[in-house]
Amino acid sequence: MVTDLDIRVLDDAHFRAASALFRGTLHYAPPTDEAWETVRTTYHAGQALGAFAEGELVGTVQAFPSALTVPGGAVVRMSAVSRVGVRADWTRRGVLTAMQRAQLRAMRDAGDVAATLRASESVIYGRFGYGVATRYREIRVKRVETRVRVPIAGRVRLVDGETALPLCRGLFDRLTPGRAGSIARWTGWWTSNVQRALKEDNLKFAVASGPDGDDGYAIYKVTPGSWETGNEKPTVLAVQDLWAATPRAWADLWAFLLGVDLVGEVLAEGRPLDEPVEWLVTDRRAVRTVDESDETWLRLLDVEAALAARTYRAGEPVVIGVRDRFLPENDGAYRITAQGASRTSDEPDFVVDVDVLAAAYLGDVTFGALAMTGRFEEASGDAVARADALFAAAQTPWCGTFF
Ligand SMILES: CC(C)(COP(=O)(O)OP(=O)(O)OC[C@H]1O[C@@H](n2cnc3c(N)ncnc32)[C@H](O)[C@@H]1OP(=O)(O)O)[C@@H](O)C(=O)NCCC(=O)NCCS
Repeated sequence: MVTDLDIRVLDDAHFRAASALFRGTLHYAPPTDEAWETVRTTYHAGQALGAFAEGELVGTVQAFPSALTVPGGAVVRMSAVSRVGVRADWTRRGVLTAMQRAQLRAMRDAGDVAATLRASESVIYGRFGYGVATRYREIRVKRVETRVRVPIAGRVRLVDGETALPLCRGLFDRLTPGRAGSIARWTGWWTSNVQRALKEDNLKFAVASGPDGDDGYAIYKVTPGSWETGNEKPTVLAVQDLWAATPRAWADLWAFLLGVDLVGEVLAEGRPLDEPVEWLVTDRRAVRTVDESDETWLRLLDVEAALAARTYRAGEPVVIGVRDRFLPENDGAYRITAQGASRTSDEPDFVVDVDVLAAAYLGDVTFGALAMTGRFEEASGDAVARADALFAAAQTPWCGTFF
């Protein structure tokens, strides 16, 4: 363990070094002067922490201000944690642990109900109280083998990038989120993920509209293939972002994407597990799930507020005990009923660590499955079944925003 570690809020003077350090931990070169002009706009005072040892920056973490939609549709204040890295010559000496401790405390004290992140490796964040709360899938559609069952019912139009960016951003904010697990996107997200790729990747923007105006969009990129004999490669259309406010807009956007000429394969990463593309086409086997992975790692920072913010399904009450090594004010028992949740002095029916509660919070996994795998000790009687009835998801939770 490092004894004289100093965790500080970084200011302007350290942002570029923090960016270089983080990129280095992922084995990328430091940002070039040109890249830094864009990246610097995504660093803000107070949002990044640095770990200093022997007078040098050896680790960094960042948090972007966001919000999380919880079951029932309420939106809670959330920090999106990213750019986590410890310099290779300082790893496994407690630097991340010290930064996590400081960051969890700072986020909770600032009023965040939750934090979320994407994990580079699945063994890192459970110990800090993060649990996998949503998953996504990657699909590959062999376009030449299939047709869409229904024609485009509304209108899908291509919009030029400079105009499309504010249009899509507005549509995302106004129409699309609402599903448990979705999050608010901050300005830097659009800068890093869309604006920067606009020129380099020749991104295309398709906007759907119906009787009430624009109601969905898709951002995609086409990589031309090769027809050279012996070296044939399909042209691939990669869907990067697709949101629709109505089933019609959703079907129209997919029908459009699957109808683009000369494309051999349509690839879509990070899509919800329950998106019914298979049912939209004539040959369902043309649609393959090629990957399924953990998406949202959720940390409940204020357990009482988080449990009170979501709604519950019909069922008998249950009392759940919670243990939190990093934020002990979350320790305690919570009574969950169909009408809501609050702290209680009642004996808990069963006790879970805060990462287990986070995993079950949006309804992606049941307490029953978690108990079955030894993640907590199952109570006698039907307490776990009661908890599962109350926490059951009306719709599979999904985030859809990678950061
Ligand atoms: C992941 C990373 C930030 C961990 O930093 P660190 O300072 O080594 O972490 P700590 O020393 O505080 O480790 C805390 C615990 O987690 C374990 N741990 C941390 N990272 C781990 C990893 N990648 N694999 C396995 N165990 C890991 C440690 O062994 C330690 O366990 P212990 O408490 O039982 O001893 C660092 O390895 C890193 O920068 N990796 C490359 C970049 C990256 O993946 N960043 C994360 C992006 S989401």
